[in-house]
Parts: sequence; structure tokens; C-alpha cells
Amino acid sequence: MPAIFSTAPGKVILFGEHAVVYGQPAIAIPVTQFKAKAVVQALPLAKAGTIHIEAPDINLDTDLSQLPQTNPHARVIQLVLDTFNIDKPPSFLLRITSKIPVASGLGSGAAVAVATIRALSSFLGQPLGDDQVCSLAFEIEKLHHGTPSGIDNTVITYAKPVYFIKGQPIEILSPTASFTLLIADTGVSKATSETVAQVRAAWLANPSEYDAIFNNIGEITRAARSAITAGNLKLFGQLMDQNQNQLSEMDLSSPELDKLIQEAKKTGALGAKLSGGGQGGNMLALVDESNQVSVQSALKNAGAVSIFSTTIP
Ligand code: PMV
Repeated sequence: MPAIFSTAPGKVILFGEHAVVYGQPAIAIPVTQFKAKAVVQALPLAKAGTIHIEAPDINLDTDLSQLPQTNPHARVIQLVLDTFNIDKPPSFLLRITSKIPVASGLGSGAAVAVATIRALSSFLGQPLGDDQVCSLAFEIEKLHHGTPSGIDNTVITYAKPVYFIKGQPIEILSPTASFTLLIADTGVSKATSETVAQVRAAWLANPSEYDAIFNNIGEITRAARSAITAGNLKLFGQLMDQNQNQLSEMDLSSPELDKLIQEAKKTGALGAKLSGGGQGGNMLALVDESNQVSVQSALKNAGAVSIFSTTIP
């Protein structure tokens, strides 16, 4: 039997991170420059019941039986087998590779889960549809993030720009102009679960102040949806700045993020903000043809460890 593989893209959140956990809308786009890949191959000569996992990027090369149940790779395999009530699957090798940087807000955990679910369910002869893939990947997000909103697994499963509200059907966005974003990495990795927990503690301590911030971010995100569909770059940039101010109010920025954001704005970016969990990871700068090169070099001089551009399709 030939090997079966599946890939899934990374993602960035454009608007609404954190507030989305509290029921506000958020907007995210897939980033197809980086992909996670899962390959499943039958092992007809192996001992019955062997499930071997290789993930060279994280030096993992082991049998499933050696992994704790809380390991995301172990959990995702078990979830797929449980979905089909399979107790004794044919022996197989699962090989996972990913070019998506980890712990930097680019959705690597969700992309690995989505690729694995698709490849394994196809290998088992029962390829799952997007809705099922998305809901199984959400279970894995809980291991990574604690109380995730579900935006990462959603944008990565559907691989389209999405306007997302927790628990509601997703809306696919169709921009009428193309938006170019630079994505620059501070080089500081920060676990999203930590900043999500920090925001929760602050919200519990001061619900009225935090609810007001979440509402403001919701307003900004709704306006951004209109700006995207109308192709209004200038407004989109202004809304990025406003969203960044609200994230700073919640102490989610950092000196490294602030520096990159300031430099991008100084050299003409139409808007700039952190993306994802914050306090590290990546920032976004909206650019156009006239300033893309200068903003890119300003980001580099300001200490960005990697910079790439993506276009909202
Ligand atoms: O995975 P990240 O770091 O891009 O961030 C996820 C976005 C949060 O809103 C902070 C958490 C969530 O589950 O929505």
C-alpha cells in the first residue's frame, strides 16, 4: 500500500486575539509558505499493533506505546482511532515534518494535528470531512493552549481567511484588494497558554475593565471585516494600530514587539501589531509597494530574527 500524506498551512491572526476567547470575533488567514506534513505508511512486516512515530524536527522516534497519553501526537492518533472505534489498527508509521516555527503564533501545533488527522483517517480508508477534522484538531488545541477559542484549528482546516466567533459557523472572507503583510519574528518564544492564563487571571480580578477592552477589540474586528471586504487598506492599517493599543493595555506587548512595531510605523507601514498570544512571537506590518522594502530593512535593523511577506489572498 502506498504511503498517504497530507499537509496543512500555518496561520496568523490579524485581529481579535485573546478577546476571541471571550466571545468576540477574530480574523485569521492561512500562511501557505510554511506547512506541516504527515505521512502514514503501512508496516506489514512489523509486529501486530505497532504504531511508530517519527518527528525528526523535535527528535522524536518512538513507538506510540512509549508516549504518555497527554502527548499531542499520541492523543491525535488515539482520537482518530476512537472516532472509528478501531481497537487494533494495522501497524503503521506516522512521520511528521513541519517548517512552521514553534511557539511563535504561527499555528504549528494545529497544523500538525490537522495534517495527521487527514492522513491517518485516509490511511484507515475513512477520510474525514473538514468539520470533523476541525473538531478533532480542537481537542488537540486544548492540550496546547488550555482554553483555546478554536480559531487556529479552524483557519488551518479550511485554509481560507476566516471571520471567527467561538461556537458560531465560520464566515470565509473575500477581500476585494490584495493586502501585503510582513510577518517579523521577535525571536522571543512565549507559550500562548501562559498569556491566555494571564489574561484570564486579570479578567477575573477586574472584569469590568477587561470586558470593556474585549468589547473594544470586538468593534475593531468588525470594522476590519468591512475594511477587508471593501479593500480599504488605509482603514485596515489604522485598525491594526488600534488593536495593538488594546493588546498593550492588557500587557500583551513586550519591548521587542514595541520596537519592531515602532520601526515599521516610522518607515511607513500602514499599521502594525503583535499577532497571537503576545509577549514575544511575531508581529505584523501592513505595507504597500512604496514602502515594503524600507519597512523590511527597518525590521531587520530593529532585531527581527526572520521576516517574510504574505498576501491576503
Ligand atoms: O496560537 P497563537 O499564539 O496565534 O494565539 C492564539 C490566539 C489566542 O486568542 C491568544 C488564544 C485562542 O485560543 O484564541
